[in-house]
Amino acid sequence: MQILPPTPDGLARAVAHLRSGGVVGLPTETVYGLAAKYDDPSAVAAVFAAKERPRFDPLIVHLADAAALPRVVAGPLPDGLDTLIEAAWPGPLTIVLPRRDILDLVTAGLPHVAVRVPAHPVARTVLREVGPLVAPSANRFGRISPTTATDVVRELGDRVPLVLDGGRSTVGLESTIVGFVDGRPVLLRPGGLPLDVITSHLGALTPLAPGGVIAPGQLPSHYAPHTPLVLVDDLAEIPAEAPVLLTHGSAERLPLQPGVVVVLSETGDADEAAHHLFRALRELDAVGAERIYAERWTERVGLGLAIADRLERAATR
Ligand code: TXA
Ligand code: MG
Repeated sequence: MQILPPTPDGLARAVAHLRSGGVVGLPTETVYGLAAKYDDPSAVAAVFAAKERPRFDPLIVHLADAAALPRVVAGPLPDGLDTLIEAAWPGPLTIVLPRRDILDLVTAGLPHVAVRVPAHPVARTVLREVGPLVAPSANRFGRISPTTATDVVRELGDRVPLVLDGGRSTVGLESTIVGFVDGRPVLLRPGGLPLDVITSHLGALTPLAPGGVIAPGQLPSHYAPHTPLVLVDDLAEIPAEAPVLLTHGSAERLPLQPGVVVVLSETGDADEAAHHLFRALRELDAVGAERIYAERWTERVGLGLAIADRLERAATR
C-alpha cells in the first residue's frame, strides 16, 4: 500500500482511483475509513473483502455536506434533526434514516441507511470531487480502528493500493450513531459526539429494547487487540512486568513494577484519552505479552461513554 501525501497531486491520484471504482484509505477526524463509491457494486464488494467484513454488517455513507442527504435518504426528517445536523455536521455524528433506492449491499438489505458528513478537510475535498462514499473503519473486521495512515497499512497491507495521509485522527474513536424507532431517537453506538449535544435537539434517547439489534455491527467483541485484554477495577489485580493501560495519573499508581505503561490522560480528560485510546491499544499489543491489563473507565459522561464502551468490547473474546 502506498501512503499519499494530501498534496494536490496525492489528492488527484486518490480521486482518480475512487472514480474508476477503486478502494482508498481515507483520513477522517474520528478514525481512518476505507472508501469506495457508494453506487459501484464491485467497489463496495471490494471494501467488504479487504476488511473480511461479513455482509450482514452495513456501511456508513459519507457525504460532502447535508445538502447531499436527499441523494440517499427518503422522506422528511424527524423533528429536531435539522437543528442537530446544523450543530453537529460536519463532525462525528452518524444518523440512520429511511433509505432511497441504493445498493442493498451498502445497507445489508435494511430499509435504513447510515449517513455522516465528516469534518476532516482531506475527506471533505475527496467527497466534493467524487460524491458519496461508503467508508467503514479501515481495519480488519473486529480489530482496532486505525488513527494514522501507517495503522491502515498495518491493518490492510497489500489488500488496498492507496491511503491518503491526513495525520493522526483528532477525535480518535468512531462517530456516535443515532437512529429512530417509531419516530423516537435511539443511541446505536456511543462515539465522538457527546450525548448531551444530541439530547438537546432530539430530547431523551430511548434505550434499545433487548434483542433490538438495529446496528448489526455492534457485536460484544470488537476493537480487539491480538493480545487478550483484561479490564481491572483495582490496580492491585495487575501482575508485575505486565503491559498496562492507565486511564489517568502516572505509572507510580501501580503497586508492582509494571512492563510498558501507557497513560490515556494524566488529568483524566476524556477528550485527550479518546484521542490516545486506539494508539495506546496498538502500542501495548505490539509488546507481544501474554496479556494486556487496562484500568476500567468509569465516568460515563462526554466521550467517557465511548471510551468505556470500546474498552469493554476490546476485553470481550
Ligand atoms: O467514525 C466513523 O463512523 C467511521 C469513519 C471512517 O467514518 N466509520 C465507522 O464505520 O466506524 P464502521 O463500518 O466501522 O462502523 C459503522 C457501524 C457498524 O456498527 C454498522 O453496523 C452500523 O454503523 N451501521 C451502518 N449502517 C447501518 C444501518 N443502516 N442501520 C444500523 N446500523 C448501521
Ligand atoms: Mg469499524
